[in-house]
Amino acid sequence: MTTRRLAPEAVQPSSFAFNAENAEWAKRQIAKFPEGRQASAIIPLLWRAQAQEGWLTRTAIEGVADMLDMPHIRALEVATFYFMFQLAPTGENAHIQVCGTTTCMICGAEDLTALCEKLIGPAHTVSADGKLSWEEVECLGACANAPMAQIDSWVKGGFHSDYYEDLTVATFETLIEGFRKGDYPKPGSQTGRFASEPIGGATSLLDDHAEAANASVAIAISEGAT
Ligand code: FES
Repeated sequence: MTTRRLAPEAVQPSSFAFNAENAEWAKRQIAKFPEGRQASAIIPLLWRAQAQEGWLTRTAIEGVADMLDMPHIRALEVATFYFMFQLAPTGENAHIQVCGTTTCMICGAEDLTALCEKLIGPAHTVSADGKLSWEEVECLGACANAPMAQIDSWVKGGFHSDYYEDLTVATFETLIEGFRKGDYPKPGSQTGRFASEPIGGATSLLDDHAEAANASVAIAISEGAT
């Protein structure tokens, strides 16, 4: 774990504004909450600001607080509490979060973090070419598909935040170099598992292992979501 504090002033931009599309989206999120409860929209708005800027700048945190009529310190408390919020510049193409908790560690996470150090550099710094950054995080709740990483990326014209599971050093290296080039590798299990069925293949519910049979997956695919 790391100390959660804002990046130095030297790297902070002087202003923040949502672009037109995100400003409209933010208005719709705020409208979901009853009058006087607009502060409840703080996490989605901070997340959107991070998606737009690549990381959560001081002016973005303060700008979101102003939109929600909150004291700046309350928005800072939220931004510094959750490690999903990046408080320092990240790689231009991708920021990689490798799970290092027990199940992933037993299944090889230490080899994955060593690979990140070799290919990207020290954790919490941006690679020499500016394209990538990484950190080790606590359990991301995909233990049955360990080891895994969550990768936030800004490639192919959009922001994505996806799980990449069942990793090996070889598949992880291919992913990292793919993101470095600006590719968007297919998320999910990298060994072809549909979900978390046995590694040797499903032994029951055989008809249900199709994307169409999984309602949430089918909806995500139809909407182009990841
Ligand atoms: S231990 Fe890595 S996802 Fe849970």
